[in-house]
Amino acid sequence: MKTFTVDLEKCNKDGICVMACPTNVIRMGSPDEVPTPTRDFEDYCLRCGHCTAVCPTGAFSLYWLSPDQCPPVRKELALTEQQVEQFLRRRRSIRNYKDQPVERDKLAKLLDIACYAPSARNNQPWHWTVVEAPSQTRRLAGMVIDWMRTVIRQYPEQAELRGFPRVVSAWDAGEERICRGAPHIIVVHGDKTYGFGAEDGALALSYLELYAPAIGLGSCWGGYFYSAVNAYPPLFEALGLPADHRAFGAVMVGYPKLKYQRLPLRNKPRVSYR
Ligand SMILES: Cc1cc2nc3c(=O)[nH]c(=O)nc-3n(C[C@H](O)[C@H](O)[C@H](O)COP(=O)(O)O)c2cc1C
Repeated sequence: MKTFTVDLEKCNKDGICVMACPTNVIRMGSPDEVPTPTRDFEDYCLRCGHCTAVCPTGAFSLYWLSPDQCPPVRKELALTEQQVEQFLRRRRSIRNYKDQPVERDKLAKLLDIACYAPSARNNQPWHWTVVEAPSQTRRLAGMVIDWMRTVIRQYPEQAELRGFPRVVSAWDAGEERICRGAPHIIVVHGDKTYGFGAEDGALALSYLELYAPAIGLGSCWGGYFYSAVNAYPPLFEALGLPADHRAFGAVMVGYPKLKYQRLPLRNKPRVSYR
């Protein structure tokens, strides 16, 4: 059975790995025993790495992850509360982009960080399709407009409720409101039968969106875009998504044209404490 090893010289038998394990697949029979895997370890281990990450002595090595592979938490990089608050409140949906494509390594870094988002049972269900050529992004935006025209024809009331006629009129007048002139659109997708796709997809895209400004990029959810991916087969096929997948979400990405000077306000939380 593939499980873990414990360095007997380093293990201080504090039981912290047992406490941190979300599925209780690490056990210590008595306080002076070293941790051992339960018989169903392989069936229930989430591969979250908590055991290796939490061990204060670096004694715990999963068969697929050793302490040396996990960078240490650097206290000097911790943010202050004020920094975190401004960082979170400062993120904006960017709808004005420079006419400049993003380098491949920056796009790759965005996706690397997005994959540190939480996911149900640590499933990490994400597959990514990055539209790299700006001309393709524009072409695919046009396909979303084609879809909207179909919906307007077939279900005018629904189309009205979703604001499609205005978006299509804007397109006809030369204004692109689908990808907002962004050079790239990134679609996160996965198994269409997976139950937490919407949640896991949104969380990964949130990580991506929060990280983007740190490397000079801007992003915005492509709500129209990803709805169209799932509803309009020609767009789904143009993106080359596997037939058993569905889109969990999409964001436009590029270099922002505008700089925001202030933090807008939000509604106060509607909350009840009981
Ligand atoms: C699920 C979802 C879909 C969205 N779809 C679009 C979209 O298609 N086009 C767009 O310009 N903005 C879209 N947005 C961005 C929201 O309009 C934006 O988050 C909101 O106005 C608040 O602004 P802020 O993100 O700058 O704080 C979407 C956001 C979410 C969460």
